[in-house]
Amino acid sequence: MILLDGKKTSADIKEEIKAEVSLLKKKGVKVPHLAAILVGNDGASQTYVGAKVKACEYVGFTSTLIRLDDNTTEEELLNKVREVNNNVDIDGLIVQLPLPKHISEIKVTETISPDKDVDGFHPANVGKMALNLPSYLPATPAGIMELLARYDVDTVGKHCVVIGRSHIVGSPMSILMARNTKPGNSTVTLTHSRTQNLKEITLQADIIIVALGKPEFLTADMVKDGVVIVDVGITRVPSTETKSGFRLKGDVKFDEVAEKSSFITPVPGGVGPMTIVSLMMNTLQAVKSRL
Ligand code: GUN
Repeated sequence: MILLDGKKTSADIKEEIKAEVSLLKKKGVKVPHLAAILVGNDGASQTYVGAKVKACEYVGFTSTLIRLDDNTTEEELLNKVREVNNNVDIDGLIVQLPLPKHISEIKVTETISPDKDVDGFHPANVGKMALNLPSYLPATPAGIMELLARYDVDTVGKHCVVIGRSHIVGSPMSILMARNTKPGNSTVTLTHSRTQNLKEITLQADIIIVALGKPEFLTADMVKDGVVIVDVGITRVPSTETKSGFRLKGDVKFDEVAEKSSFITPVPGGVGPMTIVSLMMNTLQAVKSRL
């Protein structure tokens, strides 16, 4: 079994980005600038945005964190997005999801300028992704593709089963794995809450990508020997053993599934850190594509 080590891989990529930023600076090109909008006080979202801002600082990007309170109206948020769209100093913008219930996520996503949409969530970017045209790829799926590429995982003609059809992970993941790219070129089955006989399907899978948010959902009896496992789940579960009072658990029962796997991502230290560097890569791309 080989661990798909997102912590180490992302650290390598951060060094590569840092070197590129130094080079841009030497050439007198502007340093990439990422803006992140966070609405409300959700604990997990604060942690994720904090990690993104920290990663920006590390690689030498400029970052701006815009915090708005829970009762910000939809129009106020849309105006903030428009303001960032029009700010020529800012190269990339993300609005951390989920948003409070009274705000439409799709309206917000559609308001972000596709050129600054480094999350790759705007319909124009999703369409380009589906057509295999250059675009910003959503950070988590892009991070998974990068991890598979760097470990040279063979995906051509393999049966890839994706569990979960969210717009952020499962759905784009199914598109990317089916495209004629490397990695990619897999035969993809996209499964979800209405799928019947899931175990029959996962038992046929060469590659399983689980993005459900249900701790330890995928068990050893659901997978065949030699399977490649990508675990996107990061659920906070209460724990008396940590200072924070919680632990992160993946969607895979790691110990027993690892025994049958050829490659597997750990949680934490697998997909999570790759998501953040993908966002950095997209933000760097935003500057480079204008050169
Ligand atoms: N919430 C969970 N994942 C993401 C992500 O990749 N981007 C944003 N903006 N919000 C998220």
